[in-house]
Amino acid sequence: MTVASTHIQLTNTNATAAFAAKVGTLLSKGDVLLLQGDIGTGKSFFARALIQSLQKFPEDVPSPTFTLVQTYDTLSGEIWHADLYRLSDPSEADELGLLDAFYSAICLIEWPDRLGSATPKSAVSLSFETTEEEDARRVTIEDNKSDLADKIMKAFL
Ligand SMILES: Nc1ncnc2c1ncn2[C@@H]1O[C@H](COP(=O)(O)OP(=O)(O)OP(=O)(O)O)[C@@H](O)[C@H]1O
Ligand SMILES: [Mg+2]
Repeated sequence: MTVASTHIQLTNTNATAAFAAKVGTLLSKGDVLLLQGDIGTGKSFFARALIQSLQKFPEDVPSPTFTLVQTYDTLSGEIWHADLYRLSDPSEADELGLLDAFYSAICLIEWPDRLGSATPKSAVSLSFETTEEEDARRVTIEDNKSDLADKIMKAFL
């Protein structure tokens, strides 16, 4: 299967927050975003902005580096924010309840490579990269032909 992609330039943190809020409007229960990219590329920043944009009273959204998952009630239903950097085995994802959450919530997953074969097929990858500009990021949306990828691609083409 050929997988196409779209690149988006995010010139500063405000641009990333606006992008996150727009992606947030497209998500519903059962949608899974795989937030890829090296340390410090903006995965947590993106997730935080997305979650807060869907909250009537925006809460603190700490990075789930140590807790692995944090859950939030939002206007679009429950959102699970996971950072799987410290996941030692994909079976732990089940213990965390993540495999059920893939169906029952919106999931934003940092370091999704740790999931291995437990990665949902319909999940869409957003890959973050730094650029020469300190406050700019480049994000690549992978079009895996899922309904969600379709919606996201249409919104940003
Ligand atoms: N355009 C931008 N978009 C997002 N973050 C940016 C941007 N410009 C600068 N930054 C800064 O980059 C940092 C990104 O940190 P963040 O915690 O989101 O990284 P991360 O990808 O989640 O890393 P980790 O893999 O350690 O979890 C923040 O300090 C943020 O303010
Ligand atoms: Mg992070």
